[in-house]
Amino acid sequence: MILDLIPEAARAAGLSALMKGAGKVTRYIPIPQPTLLVGPGASARLGEVVAGFGHARLLIVTDAIIARLGLLRGLCDALTQGGAQYVVWGEVTPDAPIPLIERGIAFYRDNDCDAIIAVGGGSAMDSAKAIAIAIANPKPLRSLAGYLKGLHTPVPVYAVPTTAGTGSEVTVAAVIADPERQDKVVIVDPRLVPRMAALDAELMTGLPPHITAATGIDALTHAVEAFVGNWTTPASDGMALAAVGLIFANLRTCYRDGGNLAAREKMALASTYAGLAFTRANVGYVHAIAHQFGGRYHTPHGLANAIMLPHVLEYSSPAITGRLARLALRAGVGTDDESEDDLADKFLDAVRALNRDLGIPTHLDALREADIPALAEAACHEAHTGYPVPRYMTQEVCEGLIRKVLAPAAAPGKAAARKGPATKPRARKAPARKAAPARKAAARKSGS
Ligand SMILES: NC(=O)c1ccc[n+]([C@@H]2O[C@H](COP(=O)([O-])OP(=O)(O)OC[C@H]3O[C@@H](n4cnc5c(N)ncnc54)[C@H](O)[C@@H]3O)[C@@H](O)[C@H]2O)c1
Ligand SMILES: [Fe+2]
Repeated sequence: MILDLIPEAARAAGLSALMKGAGKVTRYIPIPQPTLLVGPGASARLGEVVAGFGHARLLIVTDAIIARLGLLRGLCDALTQGGAQYVVWGEVTPDAPIPLIERGIAFYRDNDCDAIIAVGGGSAMDSAKAIAIAIANPKPLRSLAGYLKGLHTPVPVYAVPTTAGTGSEVTVAAVIADPERQDKVVIVDPRLVPRMAALDAELMTGLPPHITAATGIDALTHAVEAFVGNWTTPASDGMALAAVGLIFANLRTCYRDGGNLAAREKMALASTYAGLAFTRANVGYVHAIAHQFGGRYHTPHGLANAIMLPHVLEYSSPAITGRLARLALRAGVGTDDESEDDLADKFLDAVRALNRDLGIPTHLDALREADIPALAEAACHEAHTGYPVPRYMTQEVCEGLIRKVLAPAAAPGKAAARKGPATKPRARKAPARKAAPARKAAARKSGS
């Protein structure tokens, strides 16, 4: 590969310049925002409003669990009362694969639908978005991967999230799985943002604790990666900080006491704010690696993020000390008379403690040593071609980070591997080779 011929330092500098340039462009791309209906009963209110829009027939895209739990009732009753025609397609599975989406496209066509309401977690919302863009642009789904690959505007999508995690109800992205290539396909188009979304915490009170935990940390990862990356804007910063505050204040409560409607609503808002932050400022290596775990091992997306988040933050910390310090203050784990270094350390500790309290494992059982080089290569490719990462990572470093989450039993070569590229935990105090310029950038970002 040509990239291999370019020295690493030049690659890092080039990537940083390229991504900063891209950031200047993305800052001005208009991104629509959905009308948000918030509060208990919001899904029924969305049904009432959408019924008035005069669609010929709506497709409700959901999964079997959502339907079985009766979470469609309020919405469907309101649609019926408003005289709207609808059909339900309830086949979505977590990380919906391309062949399944193709069945959804056929169902939409067979039923002469003209708009979609997604009810569910990210998997249902992203299936709906993928169907919407594929209906308008009939070509293989894989060819819609990337930025703005569909010429025609997707059919309208309305969203009712039932997890507080992905923020897909406000984002430009649809993430689906390609089982053939064992990876995830990310379709990005501002026209994929739903027209209207209902944040109805009543639909979330039955979310089991482990899904509450994983999806909540997905939202945290969106906020954190958006806040520490190179494409931040004042608006994305505001959203990211608000999300981080709400998550640290409410996620543990939702995990322990799922029926707490007030905490659930705060998490629903946090997820949406984090979605608004990252749909503008993008994500980073945590997501790049998590997508590989999801594609190869079907690891739930939030869980994959949660396992990798502390390690990627630790590696990135020399470049983002000031930003991590601000996150610590917003998370309520430090005070502004403390040094940035101390606050940054406190934020990393707080993330680890949150993971621990939520029962997030420190290792990924499915991970195999033999897969690590390919996983790291794909993650670096995804990050370096799409994400404004604050501290460049070589493939070797990425492999080292992934190796840290290898379950002890699956790591016969782990001791040897540890001798490989170091991701020095205390690098902030003894900066690694590329840390010096990165620290300057961090200082500028933190305003310090
Ligand atoms: N489009 C985006 O911007 C974006 C962002 C992040 C993640 N994603 C994608 O979203 C997907 C993950 O979505 P997710 O984390 O929301 O999980 P999910 O949609 O896969 O749902 C996980 C499980 O929770 C169940 N569930 C959902 N809501 C429930 C409720 N209220 N009560 C009981 N059970 C419920 C579902 O039936 C499913 O079994 C991944 O494919 C990920 O890549 C997309
Ligand atoms: Fe995510």
